[in-house]
Amino acid sequence: MVQPYKHEPFTDFSVEEHRNEYLEGLKTVEGYLGKDYDLLIGGERITTEEKIVSYNPANKEEVIGRVSKASKDLAEKAMQAAVEAFKTWKKTKPEIRADVLFKAAAILRRRKHEFSALLTKEAGKPWREADADTAEAIDFLEYYARQMLKIKDGVPVQSRPNEYNRYDYIPLGVGVIISPWNFPLAIMAGTTVAAIVAGNSVLLKPASTTPVVAAKFVEVLEEAGLPKGVLNFVPGSGAEVGDYLVDHKDTRFISFTGSRDVGLRINQRASTLSEGQIWLKRVIAEMGGKDTIVVDSEADLELAAQSIVASAFGFSGQKCSACSRAVIVEDVYDQVLNRAIELTEQLTIGNPEDQTNFMGPVIDQNAYNKIMDYIKIGKQEGRLAAGGEGDDSKGYFIQPTIFADLDPSARLMQEEIFGPVVGFTKARDFSHAIEIANNTEYGLTGAVITRNREKIQQAREDFHVGNLYFNRGCTGAIVGYQPFGGFNMSGTDSKAGGPDYLLLHMQAKTTSEMF
Ligand code: NAD
Ligand code: ALA
Repeated sequence: MVQPYKHEPFTDFSVEEHRNEYLEGLKTVEGYLGKDYDLLIGGERITTEEKIVSYNPANKEEVIGRVSKASKDLAEKAMQAAVEAFKTWKKTKPEIRADVLFKAAAILRRRKHEFSALLTKEAGKPWREADADTAEAIDFLEYYARQMLKIKDGVPVQSRPNEYNRYDYIPLGVGVIISPWNFPLAIMAGTTVAAIVAGNSVLLKPASTTPVVAAKFVEVLEEAGLPKGVLNFVPGSGAEVGDYLVDHKDTRFISFTGSRDVGLRINQRASTLSEGQIWLKRVIAEMGGKDTIVVDSEADLELAAQSIVASAFGFSGQKCSACSRAVIVEDVYDQVLNRAIELTEQLTIGNPEDQTNFMGPVIDQNAYNKIMDYIKIGKQEGRLAAGGEGDDSKGYFIQPTIFADLDPSARLMQEEIFGPVVGFTKARDFSHAIEIANNTEYGLTGAVITRNREKIQQAREDFHVGNLYFNRGCTGAIVGYQPFGGFNMSGTDSKAGGPDYLLLHMQAKTTSEMF
């Protein structure tokens, strides 16, 4: 009997026992730093000469691991393995497919702190952020397994006398899963297992900055009993392997999470027919954000400042959901800004292995350079109110940074920076604030801080984002509680962790029998 879904609780690190468990996890990870990881194709481990080398962003000299890199030929081999495996996996009972996920969740839960520690090492996630990433991965496994059990017998439709009608969901085929580095466990795992539990076979191409955690997760699914060829692990260059697989005639769907530009490229390429292709490829694309917290004049201003700071600087602002714009009604602008500056100046930044650091590094040199360039732009567009400095001598550290008095159309208020930078702007009144909040091409998350219920209703109707929160920050959606996905250039609004998500990986079949 399957128990009802509940999300995995976050670890309370004020308890010494839990702190020690995390430190044990770090030791375990240190024991395997620098090791080599293979591709997995049709159950066969394949080592390549060329490797993707994964480094610790807080300590550039520390190698996390060296992961074999797929070429086009190996991608083709993986595609053939996936095509073959689909023939049997699609006929495997949904209960058995769901069981693989339940077992994987149990393994992950047992090794929770090891995985979190690996996220700290490979992605620079501070303890709490790493713990949340691991918990979310467990949640995806538990939730999607249950969702599959829920839809396995289809949805009832009407039948007339002498007629037996059914409406069933069947899998699509081979899926290409392309995942980002910022939730290197949760999003990579969630997108992969949703496709698999729905009866598809997949090729997983993880982000090149975080391939080790993906390799470790692939081992978990093997241990959980996933048959050979259902999951093929093909890390590689986005431009080479990514394009090849997106274009491939046998690709039935692509599940992508990442930047706007790569998402658009995939969407465009997927719409071009390849020779021998007999379907329209389905694209699930979850892309960038430029997320706003609106603060009303009738609001708890302390809550407002706390929410902005936590949402802007958690994991160094490297969340698609991060608050990068604070739009404040002018009567309370100075109060909220000044308090946000005070709170920001109290934040600690440094090696995320040290539990006391709130913020760690940004992911790599490219990210560091891009964010520092935006800080230069910010100095021309607005007033630097906090932070603004970076140090990339040992790792890629950038201070939490606030720019004040920006024009709503400034680049800092329009373009995704994906780092610890938040811009403040003034609105004349609440309606003006909502208008500003909607003035980007994105539509992922947003939050409104107000005590006025009418304004809550106004925002509910008019603030055009996929995930809208009231009187809290705009990050931290929980699987099964706040299904996650955005509007406009933030993507296809697939709502990961929601009740419709699996259906995006399936097609509905109507059967009608007369007797
Ligand atoms: P990215 O677009 O650079 O890379 C994402 C993935 O795409 C990586 O695996 C990369 O190797 C691959 N890729 C690159 N070029 C490709 C190509 N031509 N064909 C196929 N694949 C290709 O994004 P990133 O830097 O890894 O992640 C950060 C971005 O992801 C941000 O924009 C963030 O907002 C977004 N994101 C969105 C969500 C969401 O749910 N909406 C969640 C997390 C991250
Ligand atoms: N799902 C993540 C959040 O809500 C991105 O912050």
